[in-house]
Amino acid sequence: MIQFNNVTKICNDDVILDSVSFEIKEGEFVSFVGKSGAGKTTLVKMILGLEKPTSGEVLFNGINFSEADPTALQDMRRKIGGIYQDYKLLPKRTVFENVAYIMQVEGKDNEEIEAEVPKVLEAIGLGEKLNSFPDELSGGEQQRLAVARALVNHPDIIIADEPTGNLDPYNAYEVISILQKINQSGKTVILATHDREIINKLGKRVITLEKGKIIRDEAEGRFII
Ligand SMILES: Nc1ncnc2c1ncn2[C@@H]1O[C@H](COP(=O)(O)OP(=O)(O)OP(=O)(O)O)[C@@H](O)[C@H]1O
Ligand SMILES: [Mg+2]
Repeated sequence: MIQFNNVTKICNDDVILDSVSFEIKEGEFVSFVGKSGAGKTTLVKMILGLEKPTSGEVLFNGINFSEADPTALQDMRRKIGGIYQDYKLLPKRTVFENVAYIMQVEGKDNEEIEAEVPKVLEAIGLGEKLNSFPDELSGGEQQRLAVARALVNHPDIIIADEPTGNLDPYNAYEVISILQKINQSGKTVILATHDREIINKLGKRVITLEKGKIIRDEAEGRFII
């Protein structure tokens, strides 16, 4: 589904990713771990098609991101839902509107939006908060809203970059168990994190980055740095 072939990224003479190769298959739950600056976010952005490699190729279902025309690129991006540490919510819109906005951008009609948004919010435990504003939510609720935004257009892949970075352990675990449920429903989940506890509890594939290189790729990895 996602393939990196000898991907190298160089910025201002610094090697950010160094000949990185791996493949992620449909339905996997893969975590990227590594110290700050190891290259996790850069790698996540490449999967989202937001950064281009200096050399090597990133393939999504066999299509090279760098060679895709704008329509194909948009199609590829639509299949991927992103979740970020800082939530990226719209502060002046309600919970409902935050999710509805994502569907509006995709050109969905009002009837579909009215039907779908409450369903997704209910599933994520925010069914009672439709009319609240983001600053009226707890950190965990804000991150769950971000998850709802990533899910609402039914992407094939969910990719989360430090989704628990601003959360206490209880809320962090809530968000991770939602990601596990998403994975159990058949979607591919990619997680970049510092969080040792979470990785060790997950018991899933772990790819460890160090200074832009993959130093470990284990099917039932543990956090060892
Ligand atoms: N646009 C850029 N221009 C120059 N250097 C960059 C750019 N983006 C990232 N870097 C550098 O690339 C390296 C990897 O950054 P990246 O954000 O991918 O790391 P990370 O593993 O996500 O770290 P963290 O755990 O702190 O989020 C860092 O040394 C960073 O300073
Ligand atoms: Mg990062």
